[in-house]
Amino acid sequence: MFRRALLALALAGLAVGARYQLGTPITEELAAQYDLRPVVLPDGRGLPPGEGKVAEGERIYAEKCASCHGARGEGYPFNRLVSEPFPITPDTEPVEYAIGNYWQYPTTLFDYIRRAMPFGQEGTLTDEEVYHLVAFLLYMNGITEADTPINQKTLPTIRMPARELLDLDPETKRRFPWLTLP
Ligand code: HEC
Repeated sequence: MFRRALLALALAGLAVGARYQLGTPITEELAAQYDLRPVVLPDGRGLPPGEGKVAEGERIYAEKCASCHGARGEGYPFNRLVSEPFPITPDTEPVEYAIGNYWQYPTTLFDYIRRAMPFGQEGTLTDEEVYHLVAFLLYMNGITEADTPINQKTLPTIRMPARELLDLDPETKRRFPWLTLP
């Protein structure tokens, strides 16, 4: 009954759309602009093949990121990427929050850079370039060694320093006792 009512509503909507010439069918090109690619989860699901190296990342960073985030990730004119100090405290200035003292999962770095950077030219980096950049930024934050390979297997196993700071709030714990953070 409910489904029938929904169907009737949908058909009525179509009829109205046709009558008033509302909207246009979406084209494949337009849909492609909103293609967000698979989400990368903390356990590594969604990560593509490829491998990142610090030296390569340094080169790409200088070319595509340094103008906005500073030569060493110190954050000028935009967000700081290389962090000091750790751990953050209530007195830490928000501009000091960065990858090494605030990001809880290394996989998010991959997902975010691939999806959102370089600002204004999002979506132009290849998966391989993103891996190189992640390798460079983790190294610059003192989280990995210069020769740590960054790939589908290794990235999810890297423990971020800020992970210790993350906990479920008491209310969430009470309501969902079975819930644990990845
Ligand atoms: C044109 C300027 C510009 C360029 C170039 C640029 N970014 Fe950004 N970046 C930004 C801005 C602005 C933000 C903040 C976006 C927001 O908060 O929505 C940001 C945020 C970030 C963040 C999140 C910082 C945080 O902790 O919140 C990361 C990581 C990042 N950029 C990495 C990169 C990398 C890697 C590159 C090079 C491929 C790059 N960006 C190139 C402007 C830029």
